[in-house]
Amino acid sequence: MPFYAIMGSDLILKVFLPKMTTKFKILVLNGPNLNMLGKREPEIYGTQTLAGIIEQLTLKAENEQIALMHLQANAEHQIIDAIHQAFQTVDFIIINPAAFTHTSVAIRDALLSVAIPFIEVHLSNVHAREKFRQHSYLSDVATGVICGLGAKGYDYALDYAQHYLKQNRDKTNMNS
Ligand code: DQA
Repeated sequence: MPFYAIMGSDLILKVFLPKMTTKFKILVLNGPNLNMLGKREPEIYGTQTLAGIIEQLTLKAENEQIALMHLQANAEHQIIDAIHQAFQTVDFIIINPAAFTHTSVAIRDALLSVAIPFIEVHLSNVHAREKFRQHSYLSDVATGVICGLGAKGYDYALDYAQHYLKQNRDKTNMNS
């Protein structure tokens, strides 16, 4: 958005501010047992390790001017604490809550309490598996859900998060 500077009696300068280039801050959270990726049920979850997935995602984020933070935790309270710490500092969350997807009202409440948009990711297609995996405590309050696309799901989530944040920033800039 340009602004106008009045230079003299009738000389008006149209000034364009440089585009805002602050990095988007995106937090990636992975729940219990995802530290075992690569060894754990490879026929369901693939052979890539979590470290490998996060390394690729971090490279992608660096190329896109995104500050990416990551936590994997086996304990529910660690995930909740990380969500609380993200309050007003993180722009978007990508979360694979793993088994907590199907059990945790507490993680749902934590995400709602910080009001940060998030995408729920699952490597496997939870809808094609046991009945208990077909219910999620998060999906109805998520911006979106990606499942069944393996590790690519994290990539797609990052792409969408960036698109979403750019759109919001452009809207804010237009209105200011
Ligand atoms: C998972 C699916 C969950 O049902 C399961 O408990 C996991 C991983 C997935 O990524 O496919 O641990 O979230």
